[in-house]
Amino acid sequence: MQQSFDLFFASSNRHKYQEAKKILDSFGIKLGFFKFDLEEIQSNSLKNIASKKAKDAFSKCKKPVIIEDDGLFINSLDGFPGPYSSYVFKTIGNTGILNLLKNNRKAKFVSIISYCDKKILQSFDAKLDGTISHLQKGKGWGYDPIFIPKNTRKTFAEMNNKNELSHRYKALKKFSNWYLHRQEYNDQ
Ligand code: IMP
Repeated sequence: MQQSFDLFFASSNRHKYQEAKKILDSFGIKLGFFKFDLEEIQSNSLKNIASKKAKDAFSKCKKPVIIEDDGLFINSLDGFPGPYSSYVFKTIGNTGILNLLKNNRKAKFVSIISYCDKKILQSFDAKLDGTISHLQKGKGWGYDPIFIPKNTRKTFAEMNNKNELSHRYKALKKFSNWYLHRQEYNDQ
């Protein structure tokens, strides 16, 4: 039987979709997967990258769609890798990041969710402060084994409640709040 979805998540990253689906389920929104390799423009602004991806995704999917763009910003590296997080993960990876760091290990994860339909393009951002661990810990995807959220001692990869506190959760919560009440916002 075909499932009906409220909107689609366009990405080539199934991990992101699975987390987003669980989070939006908890807000009563049914999220489908539109597996798609989105072209990423080079820009210092995650928001510009995300808006462009959302427009592209809508032009292909033709249904209301969200995309997510993330960045890991490390204080002692002046915010690097930031908008280049995906490239840096593919090249030097977690081992390379750990080799670059000394005492100051403060970092933040930023998530931008961009929604696009035939009338609206809207973005929602959130950040989560934390630190970079000294060693990789736990089994997880991306930077999960090296990112320790503030006020916890475990990396994302070691936690069983990542989806209740992550950058993704915080941005999707803002998005859901708008999405579920968008008619009221439009009427104002
Ligand atoms: P992008 O949004 O796919 O460009 O993500 C940038 C980089 O951050 C990619 O290498 C992702 O794998 C990584 N990333 C994004 N979100 C997370 C997360 O929740 N945990 C671990 N890595 C992440």
